[in-house]
Amino acid sequence: MSFIMSVYDNLVSTAFESNLANVAICRLDTTGVVQQQQQQQHQHFASMLLLRLMVTAALVKAVCLYNGRFHPRSGCSGFGRCVIEDLTRSREVKAFQPQCKLLSSSRGLVGIYCKLRNMAPSGLAILIGAGPATGAGIARVLARDGNMAVALLARRPEPLNELVSSLRSQVSNGVIEAFPTDTQPSNLKKAFADIKSHQSFQGLKLRVAIFSIKNSSKKPFMEENFEAFMEPLETYVGGAMVFAQESLKMLFEQHGEQTLEEGSEKKGTLIFTGTLGALRANSQFSSYGASRASVRQMAQALAREMSPRGVHVAHAIANGRITDADNKETKSGKHIAAEAVGKTYLYLAQQEPTLWTHELDLRPAQEKF
Ligand SMILES: NC(=O)c1ccc[n+]([C@@H]2O[C@H](COP(=O)([O-])OP(=O)(O)OC[C@H]3O[C@@H](n4cnc5c(N)ncnc54)[C@H](OP(=O)(O)O)[C@@H]3O)[C@@H](O)[C@H]2O)c1
Repeated sequence: MSFIMSVYDNLVSTAFESNLANVAICRLDTTGVVQQQQQQQHQHFASMLLLRLMVTAALVKAVCLYNGRFHPRSGCSGFGRCVIEDLTRSREVKAFQPQCKLLSSSRGLVGIYCKLRNMAPSGLAILIGAGPATGAGIARVLARDGNMAVALLARRPEPLNELVSSLRSQVSNGVIEAFPTDTQPSNLKKAFADIKSHQSFQGLKLRVAIFSIKNSSKKPFMEENFEAFMEPLETYVGGAMVFAQESLKMLFEQHGEQTLEEGSEKKGTLIFTGTLGALRANSQFSSYGASRASVRQMAQALAREMSPRGVHVAHAIANGRITDADNKETKSGKHIAAEAVGKTYLYLAQQEPTLWTHELDLRPAQEKF
């Protein structure tokens, strides 16, 4: 029994390692109940039924495990394989193009592991600040685990298009589009208009909008002049203001103006990626500190103003290095994995009005504070 459990545990961790957010586990125990052939049919039938149920219940991802035995000499080389073949042939499941694979242990225990993809996106995510670190990880998680279509915004078309191509190759059937823009009000407004009219996003409601641009400026205070000091404020705070307003307009256009009190559901989530500089500014970071702190305060004001109207506003203070990697540093808690930020944002987007997190303090386990 303990061996069986350890195989299950392994299969479950494989599922989690593969970033399956919604995991359904079924465990069938027919051992010793019926003759082997009947048992095979029984298990086969039950597995099929369960997997089909998962699909028709519109689970985006599912894992089905069972303790059937692997029979290399049987017609279709083992139960699991039969189940996978039948499953992928069945008409209602085919629509979702399940990616199934058979997992077997040296002791013959079998699990079936299925990812059900190709469902139409459940909504739209807009992220400005689409770069190779935090932005990439968030976008991948929203597209893959959140099943959202994703609009990615950044200034330089070339790296942005490269990022979009790379994400599309990593997320099967991911709907991910690029909208090069800076935070100048007219450019940002045009980007939102382009997103609204884009063919890939028709019929999709905005679920989450993320302001996550990288800005940095360091200068001895006595060398600052008014224009140089104001530039990060205009880009960063002004950009956050326009981005938030355009996102809110879209949410109200799509969901109406009804308040929660009047029966509205949650309309969407607006998230600002912050940093420690929003709380504590270092020497020579006067303009930077002012810009980060201002966006934090703006997020607070928006949360108070927009929550009753059904929009969830959150500000996340990330403290520590964020990298889009799964390596020793991220595993040991030295760095934050960008996908972990994405998973946290997806969780925020899924929160219901009964509990909305406003501010988060994100840090890797080994970060000193
Ligand atoms: N990475 C970290 O270690 C870390 C740690 C703590 C907090 N954070 C926060 O996480 C956020 C993302 O930072 P990141 O370093 O991980 O970067 P990233 O997500 O890899 O990329 C951010 C992207 O923002 C884009 N951007 C910058 N200014 C812009 C503007 N005015 N308009 C539109 N796009 C703009 C840049 O692309 P273009 O140059 O093409 O515009 C850049 O690639 C930032 O708010 C940062 O403070 C990061």
